[in-house]
Amino acid sequence: MKHIDIIDVMNNANLIGKPVTVCGWVRTSRDSKNMAFLELNDGTSLKHLQIVIDKSAITDISEYMKLGTSVKVEGMVVKSVVAADSVEINAEKITVLGTCPPEYPLQKKRHTLEYLRTIPALRVRTNTFNAVLRVRSTVSACIHEFFQARHYTYIHTPLITASDCEGAGEMFKVTTIGYSNEYKTEEEYDAADFFGRRAALSVSGQLEGEVAAMAMGKIYTFGPSFRAEKSNTPRHVAEFWHVEPEVAFAELPDIIEIAEELIKHIINTVLEKCMPELKFFDAHFEKGLIEKLQNVVSHDFAVMTYTEAIEALKSSGKEFQYPVEWGCDLMTEHERYIAEEICKRPVFLTDYPKEIKSFYMKQNPDGKTVAATDLLVPTVGEIIGCSEREADLDKLLEAMNTRGMNLDDYKDYISLRKFGSVPHSGFGLGLERIIMYVTGVQNIRDVILYPRTVGNIS
Ligand code: 4AD
Ligand code: MG
Repeated sequence: MKHIDIIDVMNNANLIGKPVTVCGWVRTSRDSKNMAFLELNDGTSLKHLQIVIDKSAITDISEYMKLGTSVKVEGMVVKSVVAADSVEINAEKITVLGTCPPEYPLQKKRHTLEYLRTIPALRVRTNTFNAVLRVRSTVSACIHEFFQARHYTYIHTPLITASDCEGAGEMFKVTTIGYSNEYKTEEEYDAADFFGRRAALSVSGQLEGEVAAMAMGKIYTFGPSFRAEKSNTPRHVAEFWHVEPEVAFAELPDIIEIAEELIKHIINTVLEKCMPELKFFDAHFEKGLIEKLQNVVSHDFAVMTYTEAIEALKSSGKEFQYPVEWGCDLMTEHERYIAEEICKRPVFLTDYPKEIKSFYMKQNPDGKTVAATDLLVPTVGEIIGCSEREADLDKLLEAMNTRGMNLDDYKDYISLRKFGSVPHSGFGLGLERIIMYVTGVQNIRDVILYPRTVGNIS
């Protein structure tokens, strides 16, 4: 169907006085004595395009006035009568592509986000999702640009795996065997299954990413990870998009620098390319959002050890739901307090107790902590999990044995430490978490097309 994108009509002054064809869905409509007005959106811009209908020329307007109707409009581009910097279309011919009955749920101007989650196929047609999805797309593209411009190779790591990278046992099993009591033991069941052994959806591409980095030097992955976490929180989904660079010859301070640079690159890109969306989020989701983002890119992130953070939390006088002691895993309430109240900016928390982190992290000389860091940001908490990797074979084996891991499942990974092992580091950035941070949207379910959470796969 020959037509032009609404964003191009709006941004191209050369089209004024020229005939165009546009397509879209009617977002609002208004009928007056001699004229009628439609606001049309085709998804290419947050702003709608006004269609002006002269009722003496186009007489039967009843179908177009119904919200949600899809139409093709042929008409002349003219300067807007009310807003000098915008254009509208004087319609000459309107064709209905798809009618929309009155039970179309998006009749009201504003619905709650909770209600919108019950209509995932239609909530994408709201301004909120229009803005979220465009920011998400821009951020995804700029992540690729960031790494591509710096000699990283984009690697596609497997989604089906036999190993558990994070060791948390939160994996979705992959099986082709349905309900059956034919097998006497789990081992027998696994042996009869598709791969002849137990398989699951990957929680992280890191282990295979490390394999690639030991040849390509600098790599990144960008794909979905899956976690069967039972936590029903505003920041966990069972399927999330994961950006995981892995860098040979990088120690912890080097990877921290790269992580900060990436986050600032993402924010700068959004500030440059998504200002209409940011203004929308600033007005409706987080007052002062744009100023916050401008501030973040113009200051260094804080760096603080876990031990210092525990001290600061304990002496803060604040009553937390979960009390803090050295050795405890930090909860969102602690992470947010550290970023929002103690540091008042994004902070890399470093050197966590080894017991609360995964087996692959480099052990520090103190024997108690590992060279790991989480990036904590105000309002969201953790958005990056990062570490230098244990490159020493004996120390790695010791950490795996202490955890009772089956070394056979990690043969390839272990072999990297035998053949030209090098210091190396990497991190995982949760795409949805950074989208929450840059948009001010507070629930992860509202920054992804179809959120998968415990008990919900609508
Ligand atoms: O801290 P995590 O578990 O680290 C890893 O997976 C490492 N293997 C990464 C690496 O070093 N290559 O997860 C990394 C990030 C978190 O900081 C968070 O942003 C995101 O992934 N994430 C989730 N996002 C949404 N829902 C969940 N259930 C998530 N779990 C982790
Ligand atoms: Mg983590």
